[in-house]
Amino acid sequence: MSRHGKVSVIGSGFYGTTTAQRLAEYDIFDTVVLTDILDGKPQGVALDINQSRSIEGFETEVVGATTLPDGSGYEAIADSDIVIITAGLPRKPGMTRMDLLEVNAGIVGGVAKNVAKYAPNAVILVVSNPLDEMTALAQKASGFPKDRVIGQAGVLDTARFTNFVAEATGAATADVRTLTLGSHGETMVPVPSVSTVNGKKIVDVLGAEKVAELVDRTRNGGAEIVKLLKTGSAYYAPSAAVARMAKAVHEDSGAVFPVCAWVDGEFGISGVYLGVEAKLGKGGIKQVVETPLDAEELENLKVAAEAVRAKQADVENL
Ligand code: LAC
Repeated sequence: MSRHGKVSVIGSGFYGTTTAQRLAEYDIFDTVVLTDILDGKPQGVALDINQSRSIEGFETEVVGATTLPDGSGYEAIADSDIVIITAGLPRKPGMTRMDLLEVNAGIVGGVAKNVAKYAPNAVILVVSNPLDEMTALAQKASGFPKDRVIGQAGVLDTARFTNFVAEATGAATADVRTLTLGSHGETMVPVPSVSTVNGKKIVDVLGAEKVAELVDRTRNGGAEIVKLLKTGSAYYAPSAAVARMAKAVHEDSGAVFPVCAWVDGEFGISGVYLGVEAKLGKGGIKQVVETPLDAEELENLKVAAEAVRAKQADVENL
């Protein structure tokens, strides 16, 4: 497929800058716009990535722009096909994602309004935390159809689970398949029933106790890295996750990813943004996939839905 289109990344922290780099290196977009409130940061990173083009062999151009909460500078993202919102604060050690709710709600809500103004046809991919709540908020603030606002969490959580299973079994990551649904937080729902190593169920390979341990480590996967880094949160695996989602939207691939999507009747759950599998393409969510779950997993998904529903209602009242 030839290079075309424009993707914008809002926020030039580590998550935003590594995402811009990955998107540029795919060499499938004409332009990657990178923005920040800190004047000079996105411009400097853009220049740096562009200077890597002749070495890495890609032609996508990265453009840096300063965007302010009053809306100035947002014309740089005009008519983007995809906008990735990374803006907001990351966690400090000991914080839960939910501790970021109030401050990030103000930031993400403001960004989403400007996206609606300057890129009214874009698909929005949200990565700011707390993820499920920020995704719901971005949809509300932008006024976009729900299928055009998607959160990134499941691709990352699944990748973490896969990594842990590969390490525990000695298998190649390519021979491991795992899945996590639910929230990007306390009520994350790993799905061992469809998780396999070389086609064998992980419970049969590792035993229930080890699987429970890996599930727990996956649920706390972000916090483990925050604790090690001491400042900031993870960004290599998170940026890989959202960049792949952007690629699927851009290429209209219909590929199925676990994402935070609006659920409207699937699994007997309605009216909430929740981590489920979905087909991605132009226009965002093509279809939510009703992954076959065992009784306990389905019950856990319903518990997760009610937990995030309550929090998403809190966001509305901020
Ligand atoms: C994590 C953050 C990005 O899980 O939510 O690492």
